[in-house]
Amino acid sequence: MSIRELLIALAMLPVMPVWAGDPIAGQQKSQPCQACHGPDGNQTVDPSYPKIGGQYEDYLVRAMLAYKNGERENAIMQGFMAPLSERDIRDLAAFYARQPRIIGDLRNAYRD
Ligand code: HEC
Repeated sequence: MSIRELLIALAMLPVMPVWAGDPIAGQQKSQPCQACHGPDGNQTVDPSYPKIGGQYEDYLVRAMLAYKNGERENAIMQGFMAPLSERDIRDLAAFYARQPRIIGDLRNAYRD
């Protein structure tokens, strides 16, 4: 195959789809997470648990993968991430990233 033919063949390859998460699928998969993070990731059952609603999607993917591969250690979260596929993690991140953002809003931080 000549270089020219090779370039033509490459140009005809379908563009690889971006492996984006699906927020609807993520919502369906979020049932077990709600007990601790709340239905939209903002009503945590314990104040020490992180809010994840409205967090950057790529941050959420990275954090969850880090629990899954042991880079980030937490017994609770490692247990929840272990059975999930990367697709599940991307779907969950897509869902939580689209929820209301309360993290970072410090207007009420110093009230009791
Ligand atoms: C039993 C309670 C519990 C459940 C259920 C739970 N989590 Fe968590 N989650 C936590 C705690 C506690 C942390 C903080 C752990 C740490 O200090 O690293 C956390 C951390 C996280 C983080 C990192 C947040 C950050 O700001 O870095 C993400 C993302 C997350 N959880 C997503 C999920 C998802 C998605 C599910 C459902 C599949 C889930 N969690 C289920 C308790 C829970």
